[in-house]
Amino acid sequence: MSDSVLDFALRAPKAELHMHIEGSLEPELAFALAQRNGIDFPFASVDALRAAYDFSNLQSFLDLYYACADVLRTEQDFHDLMLAYLRRAHADGVVRAEVMFDPQTHTARGIPMQVVFDGFLAGIAAGEKEYGISTGLILCFLRHLSEDECLATLEEAKPFMQHVLAFGLDSSEVGHPPSKFVRLYAACRALGKPVVAHAGEEGPPAFITEALDLLKVNRIDHGVRSVDDPAVLERVARERVPLTVCPLSNVRLCVFDDMRQHSLPKLLAAGACVTINSDDPAYFGGYLGDNIRAVQAAFNFDRTVWYQLARNSIDASFASTADKARWLATLDASLCAPGAASDSNGPLDE
Ligand code: HPA
Ligand code: ZN
Repeated sequence: MSDSVLDFALRAPKAELHMHIEGSLEPELAFALAQRNGIDFPFASVDALRAAYDFSNLQSFLDLYYACADVLRTEQDFHDLMLAYLRRAHADGVVRAEVMFDPQTHTARGIPMQVVFDGFLAGIAAGEKEYGISTGLILCFLRHLSEDECLATLEEAKPFMQHVLAFGLDSSEVGHPPSKFVRLYAACRALGKPVVAHAGEEGPPAFITEALDLLKVNRIDHGVRSVDDPAVLERVARERVPLTVCPLSNVRLCVFDDMRQHSLPKLLAAGACVTINSDDPAYFGGYLGDNIRAVQAAFNFDRTVWYQLARNSIDASFASTADKARWLATLDASLCAPGAASDSNGPLDE
């Protein structure tokens, strides 16, 4: 019965490694914050805003995403946004969240870096206390800006380095290759932090190669277009480069026509270290659990696949070795939990 496979997938302890906190801003919260901050929000209602979530590509989404982020003004706003996400993530079995944020989206509007960090850190502390969820911040640079602007942002963020888990690169991929940010990434790595980058979402497989060779990334965000070049796919699998795949995002942004066309099964068949993530859950049809449900509806994976996906997410996280061992032990125990062996849909039952 694939229902129990789905239950297992939803309940299994797992890490979410690719989620933009600004992309978890639900329309209801956006309206509440606009009202709280006295902002004249350019949408008539929550329904009117939701109706605008009809994207043809990445840029059509980003335009709305940056416009909505304007309601985030105070430390309390950033706190509320973070805590709302962590509540949802916890409900989907997330024990570790590595959360992306775009400081330039806020500092460009005159919001001090300190306000952004203080708000997010307060939300993370509350999430840890209420849900026991372990959270780290991935500071992302906007790749449509110049490398010098990104280097200036890195300088501005230096006083907060103890609160930064890793660095990332997001926004418009086409026209902004990884090769544009070689100096920036060298400076980030010199700080002793891991680095990730979006590559191979809308951009070609060559951008994945650039991110690996020039930016020396530890993970690739998306990477779903690696299947377009067998040599890139083979390399990603051989080197066990984690790919933070976001299925609902890829369908909503028309990277694939529908879920059944998604490259996920090909990535798994090639032996790639795939993880499942929600990207911008408020805009793309849901949180991690919704992504899992949509993938299962399309591909009906067995429990070994879901076990491997959860295991990959923990292995690929930047958490401590001790934390990873603890979560992996819980994951292994969940395989043997009552009910877990009651379906005949996976080799683990044999
Ligand atoms: N791709 C690139 N940049 C982003 C995304 C995405 O899916 N979401 C937020 N910033
Ligand atoms: Zn993303």
